[in-house]
Amino acid sequence: MDRIRIVGGARLAGVIPISGAKNAALPLMIASLLTPETLTLENMPRLADVRLLNRILGNHGVDHAVEGKRPGDGPHVGERVHYSARRIVDTTAPYELVSKMRASFWVLAPLLARMGQARVSLPGGCAIGTRPVDFLITALESLGARIDIESGYVVASAREGLRGGLIDFPKVTVGGTHTALMGAAMARGDTTIRNAACEPEVVDLAHCLMAMGAKISGAGTPTIEVQGVTSLHGARHSVLPDRIETGTYAMAAAMAGGDVLLQGARADLLRSALDALERAGAQVSSEAEGVRVRRDGCPIRPVDVRTDPFPGFPTDLQAQFMALMTRAEGVSRITETIFENRFMHVQELARLGARIRLEGDTAIVEGRPQLKGAPVMATDLRASVSLVIAALAAEGETMVHRVYHLDRGFERLEEKLRACGAQVERVSEGG
Ligand code: EPZ
Repeated sequence: MDRIRIVGGARLAGVIPISGAKNAALPLMIASLLTPETLTLENMPRLADVRLLNRILGNHGVDHAVEGKRPGDGPHVGERVHYSARRIVDTTAPYELVSKMRASFWVLAPLLARMGQARVSLPGGCAIGTRPVDFLITALESLGARIDIESGYVVASAREGLRGGLIDFPKVTVGGTHTALMGAAMARGDTTIRNAACEPEVVDLAHCLMAMGAKISGAGTPTIEVQGVTSLHGARHSVLPDRIETGTYAMAAAMAGGDVLLQGARADLLRSALDALERAGAQVSSEAEGVRVRRDGCPIRPVDVRTDPFPGFPTDLQAQFMALMTRAEGVSRITETIFENRFMHVQELARLGARIRLEGDTAIVEGRPQLKGAPVMATDLRASVSLVIAALAAEGETMVHRVYHLDRGFERLEEKLRACGAQVERVSEGG
């Protein structure tokens, strides 16, 4: 298994191109199940999760074709992929596949909307918590689906098709809102989604569904209205830039010091995280080409953050911000409100010399002047990358194990960091 070796201490300076967002790409790919026509997705990231979902969708009968590069396309231009679900050949998503990637559970809504039936394995727990799917099931029931749980599978049917209804989420849920949107788009009648997630990835899905002929208003606000249509058609849609990748490299630049242009990034997608970085002493500016992050000389200041649904501080940047705070000049408090077990990186950061104490849902981080390299590993992708950030400013060598977590969500991480002067390399088994 590959590992990543990092020798800390180098300043970061240069340009990092930001890829298409993983968490937008996955539901967009799943939306291709809603139409027999071709859905073309542009700016697709090259990630292990995308490849795995291609395989899962392939089982249902979705063909995909990656378009070749055009003259002038640089190495970092996202891919253009054509998805075609002309004929759905299987409405079952088996445990072996769904357990590998939770987001694949979201095939439930489009299969049900188009075929009137679906059988999808429950995804089970994961490293960051129990992560139930009860809100997704209730949402589909509100649209008239009949749902039973049989031998670990959600067995759903809507023989006459889904019908519009009221979906009122008890808690903001991204996957629940994706599910509600995909179900309601082709339901008979109107649907209101209350307490909807406002995350940019939800807005991106809504825009793509609208390009496919869906009638949706209010995406990006807590109340979304959907007027059902009888069928959806093919469309072309470009995946929005990855705000979590943007925030991750912004924090890396703040940690290591230097001057990095995050090319193609949009500051409006992660205002709260960039504000926290500015309070921590980084300079952040929006430029025509993207977002620029600098930290020169100024020490890292302690900043308290609390994760919240968008536009709050994203849970997917909590671990990275904690890594930065390990070198702040003082004590910071980081509160996680979205997932109950998303502090798995704390023990690993401690291996690098960080001083972090957990009190319920809050981590109290006592900044230190220096961290020291060590072998580390993590159990999820954002936790893994927080170790990379810490290692960039640690003295000596850090070896990050279980790199497959990073490959799930970060395209060419080591290449992007190395281009800015970081000492990072991938070491293959035996290397
Ligand atoms: C999405 O997960 C993202 N995944 C996560 O990113 C992200 O952390 C999360 O949203 C929150 O922003 C993808 O987009 C593929 P939720 P999702 O439903 O949709 C509870 C990453 O690293 N809940 O918004 O699964 C749930 O337990 C990943 O890229 C229920 O109780 O998250 C959590 O506490 C990790 N019942 C909260 O709601 C339900 O039926 C929000 O979860 C559904 C959710």
